[in-house]
Amino acid sequence: MAKAVAVVSALCFLALASLAHAQEAFTVKGQVYCDPCRVEFQTSLSKSIEGAEVELQCRVRENGTVTVSQKATTDAIGNYELSVQGDHEEEICEVVSVSSPSQECNVPFGENKARVLLTQNNGVQGTDRYANALGYKTAEANPDCKAVLQEMGYIPDEDQI
Ligand SMILES: *[C@@H]1O[C@H](CO)[C@@H](O)[C@H](O)[C@H]1NC(C)=O
Repeated sequence: MAKAVAVVSALCFLALASLAHAQEAFTVKGQVYCDPCRVEFQTSLSKSIEGAEVELQCRVRENGTVTVSQKATTDAIGNYELSVQGDHEEEICEVVSVSSPSQECNVPFGENKARVLLTQNNGVQGTDRYANALGYKTAEANPDCKAVLQEMGYIPDEDQI
């Protein structure tokens, strides 16, 4: 009896293992930040945004059919994670900013999406995929930005700051 149970559980394990292999999953990770300098890149004054919504979308390259559409919300330190089933080599996958819950930091960036390659056939090992950070800016630049940007070697336009 014990032997039969052992055989059955071994078979179950094998079945699950092959299923897991066929249905490989990628973990897409990224973050959403607040840019108080309105330059659309990260500086030492950037802050994470908690509760920002993002959406991962994959579309078939030739006909635009949406194959994946999944939302996620950032945690207390501005990070999100999405688990996506399958290989999406023939699709264009992007994480798009959807919303910021922050009253003072909710002006969308001009570039509000980040490409991710969800396939094992492009030389990237493992199943974690990191998306470029997405962000929102404030309506007005923080006065401390000028010094920070100059220190970074970035000379801002007078009317941008
Ligand atoms: C789009 O292309 C995919 C993959 O070739 C196919 O499965 C799907 O049916 C197509 N959709 C439309 C609306 O043509």
